[in-house]
Amino acid sequence: MDVTNGAVLFAIALVFIAAVIATVSAAARVMVDPACGDGPPPPPAVTGIGSMILLLHTLRTKGFGAMIHEQYAKLGSVFTISFFGLKTTFLIGPEVSAHFYQGLESEISHGKILEFTVPMLGKEVGYGVDIATRTEQNRFYVDALKPSKLRCHVGPMLQEVENYFLKWGQQGTADLKQELEQLLMLISARCLLGKEVREKMFDEVFSTFHELTDNSLRLTSLLFPYAPSPTTRRRDKARARLSKLFAEVVRSRKSSSHFRQDDVLQNLIDSKYKDGRPTTDAEVTGLVIAILFAGKHTSSSTSTWTGARLLSHKQCLEAAIEEQQQILKKYGEHIDYNTLLEMCFLHSCIKEALRMHPPAPTFLRKVHRNFTVRTREGHEYEIPRGHTVASPLVINNNIPYVYRDPDVYDPDRFGPGREEDRAGGGKFCYTAFSGGRHACPGEAYAYMQVKVIWSHLLRNFELELVSSFPETDWLKVSPEPKGKVMVSYRRRTLRPCATT
Ligand code: HEM
Ligand SMILES: *[C@@H]1O[C@H](CO)[C@@H](O)[C@H](O)[C@H]1NC(C)=O
Repeated sequence: MDVTNGAVLFAIALVFIAAVIATVSAAARVMVDPACGDGPPPPPAVTGIGSMILLLHTLRTKGFGAMIHEQYAKLGSVFTISFFGLKTTFLIGPEVSAHFYQGLESEISHGKILEFTVPMLGKEVGYGVDIATRTEQNRFYVDALKPSKLRCHVGPMLQEVENYFLKWGQQGTADLKQELEQLLMLISARCLLGKEVREKMFDEVFSTFHELTDNSLRLTSLLFPYAPSPTTRRRDKARARLSKLFAEVVRSRKSSSHFRQDDVLQNLIDSKYKDGRPTTDAEVTGLVIAILFAGKHTSSSTSTWTGARLLSHKQCLEAAIEEQQQILKKYGEHIDYNTLLEMCFLHSCIKEALRMHPPAPTFLRKVHRNFTVRTREGHEYEIPRGHTVASPLVINNNIPYVYRDPDVYDPDRFGPGREEDRAGGGKFCYTAFSGGRHACPGEAYAYMQVKVIWSHLLRNFELELVSSFPETDWLKVSPEPKGKVMVSYRRRTLRPCATT
């Protein structure tokens, strides 16, 4: 393993050095001609072989976050790094982030970064179709997951959660990470894919889905999505199998008119383009695979991180339990959409867990048209077309002038009176769900399901983290807690109010 890493790093270093030489000579040429262009200057750049090697060294020893943080401290909130000959400009802090999230697709977009999703999701959806169609399909998601549609999922979610934890004994230990992954698969099957999949096709659909994502996310298929390799063949086979399975469900629903379901699948079947055209079976399949891909792993990691954080912060855990007691006092055992909305502290606990454990180290876009940013200090820079731009969550979620003591897990920072994500500098202080044009349409749904799980656990179990606090496995496409997250549990029934 170490040998491979060493070889890979050496190769990266070589490419890097070549890129630097190219950049430096290009920069030298530009500098001879100061008269060219009178717009703002380009961002400061990390240049020179020495600094590149240092950068790589930091990347290897301390990780991506530390590497970017060092440059941020040195060069300020906007700077360019050449990597593999690719120029990546980092935008740090809400002041310089608006265009990244809000710019028009024609000016700034995912570019080819998401190309690998085409063979996975199908050429009928997402990056397989033109911008206009993609925008409409995104509206289907937004519609299917809007608050008025979410109410009907609470009952089924609760049922899945209650059922699941019946299999836990009076007391024992469990790997929270594995348990929550399993549980979220069941909830996704029920609420996103529907009764047929949940009741009759669960194992087959999810093993095929894992086969599909595993083989789509290997480094080789990310780099060469269409190479005739065993990996891409397995991917395509799994994709074809899933299509067949979903097509069966869709067809049988369409042929029996009395069989009307409330799940997300049905909403996507019923969706219509602006010109009145309904979605095709192939489109529905692609949309459903995409939603599983976007929602399942992110939610299970977030539930596990929320648990690991809560169980490591006694005061927060007590406050979360007390909130449950107050809600119990007000509404009894009954949980519905409105009671979930009242779990404000639990909401902040999840939001804070996500701030510290975001779903990706950075978001990336490609610049198609120059744009200018103005930093907090008042410096202006022009970011040229052709650059890749990065909005690194690992830094943006930890900016000290936005988040007081960013290293501390402190859910109250989002509470009334503080609201640090709004007070600190506008719209783009909190981007765990992205924002602007590509904001996650599943945010409310995600909070809902994590709250259903954690309110159940807090009400029914005394829990303790018995393994050490997990590190982050950054090598996963969506970072997750590393290793097992062991908890011990003991069944209890929470009373409405312990003190009164
Ligand atoms: C804690 C859980 C979640 C987090 C942190 C999260 C985060 C995100 C982020 C950051 C993006 C934007 C990605 C990008 O622009 O590159 C995104 C997109 C998306 N998310 Fe989520 N998500 C979560 C849960 C969900 C759930 C539960 C669903 C569906 C039920 C969902 C559906 C989607 C979809 C469909 C997109 C793609 C939107 C588009 O194509 O523009 N997400 N999510
Ligand atoms: C965009 O930026 C590049 C590099 O700074 C510059 O050469 C070019 O003239 C700019 N283009 C426009 C349209 O301003």
